[in-house]
Order: sequence, then structure tokens, then C-alpha cells
Amino acid sequence: MSSLQAIRDAIEQSPDNISLLLLYSRACLEQLLLDEARESFERVLELDPQQTDAHLGIAKVLFMQGETSGAAVRAERVLLQEPENAQAHLLLSRVNLAEGDRAKALEHFDRAAMIDGTMSDPALERELGRTARDARRTSPAPAPEASMNEGPEDGDQQTQEAYDDPFEEPPYDWRPETFYTPGDPNRFGVTFADVGGMEELKEEIRLKIIYPLQYPDLYKAYGKRTGGGILIYGPPGCGKTLVLRAVAGEVPCNFLSVGLHEIFDPYFGSTERNLHQIFETARANAPCVLVFDDFDSLAQDRRNVRESQLRNLVNQFLHEMDGMKGENQRVLVIGATNQPWSLDPAFRRPGRFDQAIFAPPPDAPARAQIITLLAKDKPISNLDVDALVEATNGFSGADLKWVFDRAAEMTLSAAIHSGQPIPITMELLLSVAGSHAPSTHAWFEGAREHGQQPTPDAYSTEVRKFLNAPSQQREP
Ligand SMILES: Nc1ncnc2c1ncn2[C@@H]1O[C@H](COP(=O)(O)OP(=O)(O)OP(=O)(O)O)[C@@H](O)[C@H]1O
Ligand SMILES: [Mg+2]
Repeated sequence: MSSLQAIRDAIEQSPDNISLLLLYSRACLEQLLLDEARESFERVLELDPQQTDAHLGIAKVLFMQGETSGAAVRAERVLLQEPENAQAHLLLSRVNLAEGDRAKALEHFDRAAMIDGTMSDPALERELGRTARDARRTSPAPAPEASMNEGPEDGDQQTQEAYDDPFEEPPYDWRPETFYTPGDPNRFGVTFADVGGMEELKEEIRLKIIYPLQYPDLYKAYGKRTGGGILIYGPPGCGKTLVLRAVAGEVPCNFLSVGLHEIFDPYFGSTERNLHQIFETARANAPCVLVFDDFDSLAQDRRNVRESQLRNLVNQFLHEMDGMKGENQRVLVIGATNQPWSLDPAFRRPGRFDQAIFAPPPDAPARAQIITLLAKDKPISNLDVDALVEATNGFSGADLKWVFDRAAEMTLSAAIHSGQPIPITMELLLSVAGSHAPSTHAWFEGAREHGQQPTPDAYSTEVRKFLNAPSQQREP
């Protein structure tokens, strides 16, 4: 009980800390303190009504209390928000089994096994007479990751038909997992305010899609069109993915985010068709932001790829981008990558990604912003933002987050062992920061090599400018 008490004390210091509350709720659940677990999960939902872990936690409590239908409603609600939540499928499998619907139980179990390749649940597996490994082996739909490395299957009739007439009649109505309309409560609750620095990028996004929707007449008067293409590139952990999520929370229009795993299909011609459908969906739902994170996986330099499938995909992509040039398309395409050198140069032609914006490690003011964001809701004594800014030159946002996470972990561990709530100290934060080397170093080494080519590309030139700037007294 002493560890529960320690977390309870920590919560007293920081009553709105969702991570602590979740930690406490789960610990209660493990010790079968069902009422306490439920109360604490409810508290999380008061702070963030969309918190799926809390909804799922309550579903588990209900299930343990024998309220299977209540548990099912909650778990299904989680799946509406996150269709790929393996834990929710697993719980539904248990619920269905308890209600005597074995077929449905197997269906959810298989789904969970496919989504989470490491999932195993020996007790449920015994009851179902089926292991997660078997589920993965025999399930009809190949896992997206697995399919990446496999060639086309045997000459399946349907595949051939799809290829003969690739785009005319899409065989299914298909949207990516992430399609949000304005006001959709499921948008990630992140906005630009949660992203430190990146001011140029934020303003560019406002100029291309937010202001045009706010001031359409002004834009018309100046003959400026809405939308276009922005490419974000930079070292890992510097907020590219975060800012893309924030765009969803910021723009007053539809938002669609696509990952390679969603469109890649081992059947010949299907991947291009999927991509086409994505662009069609964006156009049909304009104004719309269409986001491709880890863009390099979709847009590799055709000279460097062997597989004709990937080359075709790039051709299709370029073709779709050209189709966005019309006056009334009102679609903003944003790509993000940490491998700008591997992209096909054709993406940089006018009308495609006109604008490439470098996302460097945060400068001092941006670090101050990120540190303030990270410190929010954490029990920290005598936070000295300036001292931390000073100690973290060259750190990425992810490095800064690591410093806070590590310090919190060490403090929590000490608190649990001593049974006393202990605040995170400034000394600990500085010492953790001092022991950490910026993780962007290797990336900059790679950039330097690219910059030594006889004709350095625009990306390397921009990176060199950054490294030579007077503010970079220390090499990142
Ligand atoms: N500018 C920032 N403001 C606030 N937090 C940040 C910022 N940059 C990074 N972080 C923190 O670091 C985490 C990792 O950043 P993110 O995933 O956005 O990096 P990335 O640039 O997409 O990296 P990669 O190139 O590896 O995909 C974020 O989830 C966030 O917690
Ligand atoms: Mg990323």
C-alpha cells in the first residue's frame, strides 16, 4: 500500500496531473480497488473528456464489476475515437466471451493481435482456445508492416480487375484513419500554443489556410490563392510531428493525415489508387489540410529506388500535386521529413512544395517556451527556466522532454521508496541535462556530408546557414 500512498501524496501536490492520476488509477485497478480506480479515472475525464485510457479504464472496472454491457459501451466508444486501440478490442473480446458470443470474441481478439504484434493474454487465449500468434498467422488481412516486404500475391482475379481499371470505380469507400471535420471532438487536443518556437512555420500555415478562410475577400482582392504545399524538414525530435498535430487543432477546416502504412498495398496498382483517392477526398472536402508525416517514405528520389512500385507511387504523387494547382482547389498539402535528401527533387518544382521550411533545434526563446510547457502540471521546486535554457543548448524538443521525464521518473521512484511526496528539484533537472548529449548531432553530421557535394542542395545550404549563425556558439 505504501506505493499507492506515495502516488496519492504526489497527486495532492499536483492534483491536475493527468499522468499521475492515470498511474494511480491503474495501480488501484491492479490491486482490485475498483471504486478508487473508477473515481480516479473519472477525475481524469473531468480534466480531459477525450482521454481514451481513462474511458478504457472505466470499461475495465465495469467489466470486473460484472456490468458487461456498460463495459461494452465504453470500449466501443474508445474504438470510435481510436479504431486501432488493441486494448479496447481485447476488452470487447472478453465482454463478448462473457456474454456467450464466441464468434465476436474471436473477431475482436484477432483484431487486437493484428494491431499489436506483441500482445498476448494467456488467460483469454486459453478460454478462446487460440493464441495471438495463431491469430496473426491465419488472419485474412495482412498486417500493413508485414505487407511492405512482400511481393504481389498470386494472380488473384480481383487484383487484376482493379489494375485494369485502377481509378474509375474505387472498390470501396475509403478514408484515412485521421479525417477530422472542424469542431470534431476527436481532433488531437493540441494547438500551436503547445508547440514552442517554429514561428515562421506557424505563420506560413496561417497565411496559406487560416487567414484565407478568415478574410476571403482580402485574399481575392490581392489575387492570392488558398492552399499549396509546404515541406517541413529538420533533425529528429524537433517538433515536426507535434506541429502537424497542432495544425489539426488550429485550422478551421477539414484535416486529413495519411501514413504510408495506410495506403501501401502489395497489390500492383492499388497503392497509387489509394493515394489518388486520398487526394480526391481532400479536394471533395476542401478547404482541407492534407498531411503526410515521414514524407520520405512516400516520396523517394526515383533514381534511387529499385522497386517499380515505389517509382509509380512517386509519379502518381507528383501528378496529384499538379492537380492541386487550380485556383479553387483550396487544399494545403504539408509534408514532414528528417531525410530531405532522399526526396525526389521533382517535388520542389513550382506549384508543388514551393516552400521548404527548416525546423532546427529550438533556439533559446523557443527552449524557454518548451521548458515552460513541459514544467506545467509537474511538481517542481524553484523552477529556473533561464538556467535550464542555458544548460540545454543544442537540445531538441524531444531531448528536453527526456530531461523532464527522466527527472520525474527518478523523483517518483524516490517518492515511492520513501513513501514521501518529493518535488522534482532544479538540481536534478540540471544534472540530468548535463549528463545528456543532444541527439541531433548525428543528423547534423549527415547534413554536413550532403553539403559537401559539388552542388549542394537547398536543404544543406539552409542547414549550413543555421550552423554558421552567430547564435550557434556551440556545435550542435
Ligand atoms: N517545439 C516543440 N515544442 C514542444 N514540444 C516539443 C517541440 N519539439 C519537440 N517536442 C517534444 O518532443 C517530442 C518529439 O517531437 P516530434 O515527434 O514532433 O519530433 P519530429 O520532429 O517529428 O521527429 P522525427 O523526425 O523523428 O519524426 C514531442 O512529442 C514533444 O513532446
Ligand atoms: Mg515525426
